[in-house]
Amino acid sequence: MSDLRSHTLSEFAERFGHSAMSVWSGPGRVNLIGEHTDYNEGFVFPFAIDRRTLAALRPRKDGIARVASSFTDEVVEIPLHDITPDTVSGWSAYPLGVAWALRQFAPHGLDYSGFDIFIHSDVPVGAGLSSSAAIESATALALDDLWESDLDRRTLARVGQLAENSAVGAPTGIMDQSASLLGEADSGVFLDCRSLKAEVIPLGFEAADLELVVIDTRVEHAHATGGYAARRASCEAGAKAMGVRSLRDLHVADLDRAVEILDDETFRRVRHIVTENQRVLDTVRTLREEGPLAIGELLVASHESMRDDFEISVPELDLAVEAAMANGSIGARMTGGGFGGSAIALTRTGDVDSVTTAIRLAFNDAGFREPSIFTVVPSEGARRAE
Ligand code: GLA
Repeated sequence: MSDLRSHTLSEFAERFGHSAMSVWSGPGRVNLIGEHTDYNEGFVFPFAIDRRTLAALRPRKDGIARVASSFTDEVVEIPLHDITPDTVSGWSAYPLGVAWALRQFAPHGLDYSGFDIFIHSDVPVGAGLSSSAAIESATALALDDLWESDLDRRTLARVGQLAENSAVGAPTGIMDQSASLLGEADSGVFLDCRSLKAEVIPLGFEAADLELVVIDTRVEHAHATGGYAARRASCEAGAKAMGVRSLRDLHVADLDRAVEILDDETFRRVRHIVTENQRVLDTVRTLREEGPLAIGELLVASHESMRDDFEISVPELDLAVEAAMANGSIGARMTGGGFGGSAIALTRTGDVDSVTTAIRLAFNDAGFREPSIFTVVPSEGARRAE
């Protein structure tokens, strides 16, 4: 963290020619369970990870926003009042989109000063660990402090989501930003995406001697195009055909009726969401009653549902899960939006090395690109860095 911080501060000074006022940080996230349920007003259970994005910021008096990052050499400059979803593009759409979105939620009459912002991150991009929410939450917290808009964290999550939906153009739900803003050490965020009621629940991985292994397949995905939006459309069509506001309103017992009404593909999409919501509830209950060693089967069932019913897995993710389970992991599943990105494997500390080696070998044998494998720790959400 402190290396990241000093790098961010020195790069800020180099790019902008003066020093930053302060640094804010936002974490990436891993979703433990509850995939594609957020935009169906269902349940999710993600946690913030120890990979973070830092945003160094300094106010400006001329009403200009300048953004730079270690992703590119480009410095984007725009008058604050000219920022709309249509005037931003590329990577800077994330921080600038937040600058626009925050003003949609903030109280009237605030003094919006311009700013210089520099962004630096160790959340891998394209790995399904929400590097985008990490940028959004760090920027939202920084601008909330700068403009004294005093928005609570649940509202800042909605700011990030609005930026992503409108400025970036990805029709994503509220999960990633909520995890990044509400996460706490060694805990998951159990979120009801209809009421936005969030409960922080201890995961107890460390006490149970468990590690969360991430297998980044390095198969890249983009949610602004393609399959993600298509799945969302299928869910909306399924809800409409079943006569409910959203798939949240269907339960496992309704599936007998759904199979009669829906075409085969829509039925399988619906079945994933309905059973996944139930698995989130079951995971939270099991965790509370029996602890993390007992949640493995639910993780695997979630993966199978995404592979067979929702059809958002890829062979690399399936192989990672299979190899992890064959070599002693407690549970494993793909995490995030799918079509690439990462799988997770909950694994006893003593088995991490053998699981890692087994996955590497399996990828090599299959002729897949070498995966990046590392562990993550459930960590605290966005904050102003000391
Ligand atoms: C992406 C989106 C989230 C969520 C997941 C799937 O990460 O940003 O809102 O829909 O996919 O669970």
